[in-house]
Amino acid sequence: MYNEIDLDKIDINSEPPAEEPARQYYFIAKCREIVKRKSEELGRPLYACTVNMGCQMNARDSEKLRGVLKGIGYAEGEEDEADFVIYNTCTVRENANSRVYGRLGQLKPRKARSPQMLVGLCGCMMQEPEVVEKLKKSYRFVDIIFGTHNIYKFAELIATRLESERIVIDIWKDTDQIVEDLPSERKYPFKSGVNIMFGCNNFCSYCIVPYVRGRERSREPEAILREIERLVADGVTEVMLLGQNVNSYGKTLDVPMSFAELLKEIEKIEGLRRIRFMTSHPKDLSDELIEAMAGSSKICKHLHLPVQSGSTEILKKMNRRYTKEQYLELVDKLRAAVPDISLTTDIIVGFPGETEEDFLETLDVVRRVRYDSAFTFIYSRRTGTPAAAMEGQVEEEAVKDRFNRLLTEVQTIAAEMCAVHTGTVQEALVESVSDHDASMVTGRLGNNLLVHFVGDKSLVGEYVKVRLDVCRGFYFIGSKA
Ligand code: SAH
Ligand code: SF4
Ligand code: F3S
Repeated sequence: MYNEIDLDKIDINSEPPAEEPARQYYFIAKCREIVKRKSEELGRPLYACTVNMGCQMNARDSEKLRGVLKGIGYAEGEEDEADFVIYNTCTVRENANSRVYGRLGQLKPRKARSPQMLVGLCGCMMQEPEVVEKLKKSYRFVDIIFGTHNIYKFAELIATRLESERIVIDIWKDTDQIVEDLPSERKYPFKSGVNIMFGCNNFCSYCIVPYVRGRERSREPEAILREIERLVADGVTEVMLLGQNVNSYGKTLDVPMSFAELLKEIEKIEGLRRIRFMTSHPKDLSDELIEAMAGSSKICKHLHLPVQSGSTEILKKMNRRYTKEQYLELVDKLRAAVPDISLTTDIIVGFPGETEEDFLETLDVVRRVRYDSAFTFIYSRRTGTPAAAMEGQVEEEAVKDRFNRLLTEVQTIAAEMCAVHTGTVQEALVESVSDHDASMVTGRLGNNLLVHFVGDKSLVGEYVKVRLDVCRGFYFIGSKA
């Protein structure tokens, strides 16, 4: 574990060790020397900035990158002043890719002016060969490019770059390796994401994630529990268990274990107060998990249950492996077992072949389930996925119209669902001083809603009972109860 490793004791003049994570600590120690020298030359610290562009999984990866950068001796800085800028990219929709090229374009003149500056690119987008080709051709000022499978090698890649003048590109197609006990630098002292599995085997027909994140692999339960115990000892009271499909956790382990069983073990950890997880695939949500949620005082009463479409026909083409009716039954079962559960979802409009009738089915699901909130997306054609080759790509005008109608419906219902809590007293974990008003703090309720109330930064990380006085659509203004 990082805290127990003394970087000064590592002999950087010997050969690097072959085994992990010792090898990466060796390279951290090595880079640290180089960064120290550069910083002395410049008479100031060197700054690094890791920009996270993707989902929670990517955000967690960014914390691992920051952990390595801190070990190497970089101070954290803003993007516009940083000596090392790393974009941790996403490629789930086309606009995610366009953003990266846009920002890279802006970096180019700065990089030309500052010889010590480094630019790194990693994450899901780098797993696409055409992207790397384009970067090699048109963005030659990038220094380091790596993918999702070898992120643990970050220190080694930096060392290679610092010791040579050449661009370092290292992308793996897949991996079955999970390297434990590397450093990580948390964004919040009191809450943390925890990977419980990597990759995805579902191959929803629109989705690029299985191609860029590889096959599903679960971490050993002991490694997860050990990590959470350490986090708790370090002040964390809320964890978010992360996986593309947490409900299939443990199926590939040598000694299989269900997600509900894992939750029960995590629940036993003293000092841990809140457990969240995402994402749940409806097809794998078991009765055992519903029971575990109903019987737990730590698992938050919030479930993100992406429906994607309300039309059974479209769901079939999406390869989601449930019908509209099965999804609605699942929601009924959840609400019966956990009456105050908050439900959120993801919805795609304009999937190939989607008719007005199909779309009305989606609206019907939204009206029946009454989501507390929903992320709505316009279908984006991802090269290499089965849906990209499907007939009946929906015309843009129709998609926009459906998207707007869906958004209105989702927002109206979400505001109504939020208002239901007005006047109640609930426990909030204070996350920060409010962005809009320095005399207020922002707390998160168990159901994931935010509340702003009068307080100062001494409350950050504390659990406070708050009366939810006024509903403002998606959040509350409250007062200490
Ligand atoms: N593993 C999660 C989702 C990860 S991607 C799950 O199965 O629910 C997050 C969301 O992005 C998906 O739920 C989906 O709604 C959306 N998404 C994925 N691919 C997309 C595409 N090609 N076009 C539009 N939205 C997409
Ligand atoms: Fe993509 Fe489906 Fe896997 Fe989620 S479950 S990451 S939507 S393939
Ligand atoms: Fe996440 Fe985007 Fe990758 S959604 S898994 S960062 S493609």
